[in-house]
Amino acid sequence: MDTKTVRQQFIDFFKERDHSFVRSTPVVPVDDPTLLFTNAGMNQFKNIFLGKEEVKYPRVVNSQKCIRVSGKHNDLEEVGYDTFHHTFFEMLGNWSFGDYYKEEAIRWAWELFTEVWELPKERLWATVFKEDNESEELWKNVTDIDPNRVLKFGKRENFWEMGETGPCGPCSEIHYYVGKDVSKQNKKGINVSDQYWELWNLVFIQSNCMQDGSLESLSQKHIDTGAGLERIAAVLQHKTSNYQSDLFQPIIREVERLTDTLYKNNPVPHRVIVDHLRMMTFAIADGVLPSNEGRGYVVRRILRRAARFSRNLGVHEPFIYRLVPTIIDMMGDIYPELIERKIHIEKVIKVEEESFNATLDRGLENFQKILADLTADVIPGDKAFKLYDTFGFPLDLTQQMAREKGLLVDLKGFEQEMQAQRERARSSARFHVDVAKGNWVELTKGKDSEFIGYDEAKSKVQIRRYLIENGKVFLILDRTPFYGESGGQIGDAGFIRGERFTIEVVNTVKEGENFIHIGKMMSGDGIESPEVTAEIDINRRNAIKLNHTATHLMHKALKLVLGDHVHQAGSLVHSDYLRFDLTHYEKMTPEQIRKVEEIVNREIRENIPIEISYKDFEKARQEGAVALFGEKYGEKVRVVSAGDFSKELCGGTHVTSTGEIGFFKITEESSLAAGVRRIFAMTGSKAVDYILNGFDILSQVQELLNCSKEQVIKRVSKLLEQKKVLEKRLRKKQTVGKSDVLVSVMKECEEVNGRNVVASVVDVIDMDHLKNLGDQLLTKLKSGIGVLGGVIDDKPNLVCVVTKDLNKKGIKAGDLARKFGQMIGGGGGGKPHLATAGGKNPDVLNDVIKKIKKESVKIVRGNE
Ligand code: ALA
Repeated sequence: MDTKTVRQQFIDFFKERDHSFVRSTPVVPVDDPTLLFTNAGMNQFKNIFLGKEEVKYPRVVNSQKCIRVSGKHNDLEEVGYDTFHHTFFEMLGNWSFGDYYKEEAIRWAWELFTEVWELPKERLWATVFKEDNESEELWKNVTDIDPNRVLKFGKRENFWEMGETGPCGPCSEIHYYVGKDVSKQNKKGINVSDQYWELWNLVFIQSNCMQDGSLESLSQKHIDTGAGLERIAAVLQHKTSNYQSDLFQPIIREVERLTDTLYKNNPVPHRVIVDHLRMMTFAIADGVLPSNEGRGYVVRRILRRAARFSRNLGVHEPFIYRLVPTIIDMMGDIYPELIERKIHIEKVIKVEEESFNATLDRGLENFQKILADLTADVIPGDKAFKLYDTFGFPLDLTQQMAREKGLLVDLKGFEQEMQAQRERARSSARFHVDVAKGNWVELTKGKDSEFIGYDEAKSKVQIRRYLIENGKVFLILDRTPFYGESGGQIGDAGFIRGERFTIEVVNTVKEGENFIHIGKMMSGDGIESPEVTAEIDINRRNAIKLNHTATHLMHKALKLVLGDHVHQAGSLVHSDYLRFDLTHYEKMTPEQIRKVEEIVNREIRENIPIEISYKDFEKARQEGAVALFGEKYGEKVRVVSAGDFSKELCGGTHVTSTGEIGFFKITEESSLAAGVRRIFAMTGSKAVDYILNGFDILSQVQELLNCSKEQVIKRVSKLLEQKKVLEKRLRKKQTVGKSDVLVSVMKECEEVNGRNVVASVVDVIDMDHLKNLGDQLLTKLKSGIGVLGGVIDDKPNLVCVVTKDLNKKGIKAGDLARKFGQMIGGGGGGKPHLATAGGKNPDVLNDVIKKIKKESVKIVRGNE
């Protein structure tokens, strides 16, 4: 049975039992700062378990994309060394929210396994929590499992917790013996030996684990189950390794082809590469980019681990990215986001692989330096950490290299550095108010946080509860016109006024379903009554609206100008500007930026009405609405359209028609990360001011240059050119000024019958300088002929001097200059004692000057 069928049969089985299918959320948890990655199917239902979110469907089934590489559930060390742990996997699950409980969960799991999928009962085992007699009895009464195959375990094995805090409860697991010989089974192997695979975990959620470790009972009991698709598929395909199943085989074949190595000879590197490829592909598709912090850091480590293992296969060039098409072919129909972001995923992986190859070599150099500085047989933790953090060396690689040199690594020191790194990652998580914590004062009861701000800016509402902490006031209202920061749009600001108090709201954030207004008391002695008027800062909101609608228009324009590989990788819709991160791999050219601006401004001038509609998610997607990276969408989505030009799923606030935006201008385009560019832009009066200011500056420049606007460029270019020439001269002057040129010239002097003959090439600045040197030479010669050549503005020039006594004998500088001038391709003339010549080709000057010297010697001799 292929994996697709397994997935579908699971879903259908529970649909037939009144479960509603809910799509997988992104691997990046939405609105849950306690988790780096989605690590279980239940993550998206956490608030339902905790009673914070309404139950839409009491029974749910799903197949969830999960990543387990960090935090409480971390399988990284096992990956590659066994055949059934993964960094990325799909978790099949069924849920009951306060509906059915243990009995149905156990009965149905058994039915699906043994009747639908006909797994041999003699290979199946069930485990229960040691204090949970109820489940033990249920296994024995509602299923036909051999009672000897129901085992009890302690908290470690059979009590499931989502993370350090959050929903938890006892669980019951189903394990499967994968060994060859069923008679060799032994209950001691369960939870110990890799011959027994845990296939399905049924969790009976009944508590919330608090920060201090205590358990708080939940008002309702829930079912949360998780079955690893990869393992079940492998078992149903009669394989003893997930890697032999159809979920992995095509990628392994591709690794074999590209690296020219065989899986069977190199199982660990092959497994690590394909496992890590799946993880990074899904993480990048959901918007994570390799970086040095948080999720990005995890993806980077995974990618580098995979890249290092490709060295073990003798591969030195980037190649993992070449596996991406294969995995997308296999999984794109179930997870269409992979198809949409294919080029992006490939590019990001390729660039990371390239940069790791570069750091690997620098890291090796750094390792040599560390060795040279060592004073003991231990590599200090901070040094190992630097290799890890800066050069991307996994710790195990550093340890391996240290071992080869008979050294150890200070693991404690490394861990301390690592801890500091983690703290940094945590503190960079976004601002977060835990509604469950703190001394909230409840003023009124009932539903809260209904958003009415699409239509209202000022409303009479009630405070449900508030919290005053460190001079800040946090408020939750029954209904609110304040938009809570989400989808890139910043939260609203404004005022909340009671009869005798005023609170200035500086920001509004969303925590789950709650809208939290954050502000400070401006007047009054306290919140004495729940009745208030909530009024947003309408000017600020209007400015935000312009930027939000312009963001949609620009998103579409970018796709039109740059191509379909462009996706939104991040966005901030502010009142003063908009910021937009897009997947694109090179700097945008000025022409491309101009084109985007033209398209957006054209759409603004078209004054297209913005239409808001609510649709089923699938229908909206079929109609071409753009869904964003890593967003969690419900079944009903809000679609924001600007005619046929742009259609996006979006909860933000928008203008009524595009003309309100007035004007749009991109102000900056830069690189954010590998494969991601960042754009800043402005709209409305801000954009107009920006342009007018720029124009003012241009007018001032024009005035300074005293030319028309059209001539500015030409004039400035000319000035720059002149500046270059002057700088060159200045540099020459500085060097020329330093040495006494004539002293060295005189050293070359040839004496002919008591007279001196000099002909040399010298460094000169300009004609005046050359003449000046000629003058000085005349004095130094006492009696004789002197010729100096120099290149001025790329042309050869000469100065000829003849002493008075020789003038008397008929030798004149003017004649010499004329004659020698011809030798440099030009002419010359001047006084009898000093004359100059200019020519064309500077390259001949050195040769010519030698000839001039010979000629001058002849003239002096001939004259005697
Ligand atoms: N939430 C449970 C798990 O992840 C089912 O194992």
